[in-house]
Amino acid sequence: MKKRTHNCGALRINNDNERVVLSGWVNSFRNHGGLIFIDVRDRYGITQLVFDPSFAEAHKIAEGLRNEYVITVEGLVRKRPDGLKNPKMTTGDIEVLCDKIELLSKSKPLPVQLDEHNEASSMLRLKYRYLDLRRPNMQKNIIIRHQVAQLTRSYLSSLDYLEIETPILMKTTPEGARDFLVPSRLEPGHFYALPQSPQTLKQILMISGFDRYFQLSRCFRDEDLRADRQPEFTQIDIETSFTPVEQLFVEMEGLVSMLWEKVLGVKLKTPFPIITYEHAMDNYGCDKPDLRFDMKLMDVSSVFSNSNFKIFKDAVNSGGIVKAISVDAGDKFSRKDIDSMADLVKPFKFPGVAWCKVQEDGTWQGSIAKMLSDEEKAELTKKLSLKSNSLVLLLGGKKDLVNSAMSEVRLHCGNKLGLINATEYKFVWVVDFPLLAYNDEDNRFYAMHHPFTAPADEDLSAFLSGDKDKLKGVRAKAYDLVCNGMELGGGSQRIYREDVQKAMFNALSIDDKEAELKFGFFLEALNYGTPPHGGIAFGLDRLIMILTGSSSIRDVMAFPKTQKATDLMLECPSPASEEQLKDLSIKVLKNQA
Ligand code: AMO
Repeated sequence: MKKRTHNCGALRINNDNERVVLSGWVNSFRNHGGLIFIDVRDRYGITQLVFDPSFAEAHKIAEGLRNEYVITVEGLVRKRPDGLKNPKMTTGDIEVLCDKIELLSKSKPLPVQLDEHNEASSMLRLKYRYLDLRRPNMQKNIIIRHQVAQLTRSYLSSLDYLEIETPILMKTTPEGARDFLVPSRLEPGHFYALPQSPQTLKQILMISGFDRYFQLSRCFRDEDLRADRQPEFTQIDIETSFTPVEQLFVEMEGLVSMLWEKVLGVKLKTPFPIITYEHAMDNYGCDKPDLRFDMKLMDVSSVFSNSNFKIFKDAVNSGGIVKAISVDAGDKFSRKDIDSMADLVKPFKFPGVAWCKVQEDGTWQGSIAKMLSDEEKAELTKKLSLKSNSLVLLLGGKKDLVNSAMSEVRLHCGNKLGLINATEYKFVWVVDFPLLAYNDEDNRFYAMHHPFTAPADEDLSAFLSGDKDKLKGVRAKAYDLVCNGMELGGGSQRIYREDVQKAMFNALSIDDKEAELKFGFFLEALNYGTPPHGGIAFGLDRLIMILTGSSSIRDVMAFPKTQKATDLMLECPSPASEEQLKDLSIKVLKNQA
């Protein structure tokens, strides 16, 4: 095989008359009953090759070529005649007249078409991932991923952050998901846990004096998967000591702006706005609001405290809320569209969305219109600035359920009304999260972020009191960076006093024994001179999703897993052999295989 002189995206008009060698895959094949045209492809581009019968040997081999065969060709670059130039191809001004060709390997007909886009093919695409990865869009995404990794490393190291690796075989890290466990052969019945994040270790590195750390770290979480979640993903993980949070924000905004500028040529406006968790929940119903459009949720509970509409009245009088959004609907929402919103809110236990619409003649139509008194209509009109054609969508019930469901309704309406600009980037820091979330079912607190997050200074004494009611109001020194409704990163300032850390475990109902078992090493380390520290981790995959405009996290990873956390190409997870299980002292109770 001859060494290539150029890649398939390189040749231009100024290469006219040069003798070149190209290698790649046959992308398409046209036999014009004499001249044969072949597009040869590699990751850099596509070049048109021409085989003329006067080069009989090469022409004969070319006749036998099919899509995805791998070839090396040699020939002369020539200008394409004027009418035959292809402005859509970077190499569209030229073609290569080939006099030599070597067929390096053949391909079976592909089980999945590379230009096909449908759900049915998505499983096949994962099984034949190596073929799917040949698609230009996938190649573009993987290349951008590489660029982002390189740019991140160089930016952070220019700010004195050190890249330090931490182990994959480690101990549980409490990020709220289930652990993936790895059995130990040498210590039967003992397990490593794969890191949900390197949280404890990056804090330990701070105690060791590496005051600025980063890592592109693999994280493993056994949790329900979604369009932006994989069981195995990568974080840009960062921790720093003696750095005020304001400075951390500036540095992180610098990282993100640099990436946007270098990858997309887009200049972001910094500093990014900062909103509190409370503001986000009140106005958007979620802690990761998409700020590309306004459409705030309005609390209209007071309108319904004495209403004839019993469901809302009962909701308000039993401590719940009623929230509404009004949209300038025109004729964009049919009755059927509104009814189908029930699917959005069913996961939150609402049978459907209540609605009313102000008609052009001033009368009200809709599922709850008849139950509204004139005063209620007047109040809604005032609170929501209603006018002719305003559509009001409402839900009443428990506050957190109403917020979550209304947040979905808001996004749906934003999309439907075309209010979301796909090429706009709205970043926002969300701060002042509650430290703890109380779960009524098992009567205990859980960490909203993770158990190493420090309480706000103003709330420290309430926190240390351990009083259940007071604990509910304690805020955390935690922050998320949100872009276009996606949580890109999250972090916090950490607890660096052993007594505060112990109080945290108490609040989380982790008794001394359990704390010792899980985090004894960490509690011990806190006693040996711990600097104030904090950090953040960005989801690298999610960053790439936004930078490439991908709607699925799978499109930005080379080898992603399915919804059921399986790898269809590797066919794993898969059963272990009897011998392996014996080595690991493991007996499988019920083999699903
Ligand atoms: P957190 O759990 O918020 O924080 O994770 C940080 C970021 O990682 C991304 N992410 C994911 N991406 C893909 N698939 C997943 N399953 C997944 N889970 C999380 C998100 C998220 O914002 N140790 C802390 C960080 C810190 O406090 O410094 C942590 O892991 O983009």
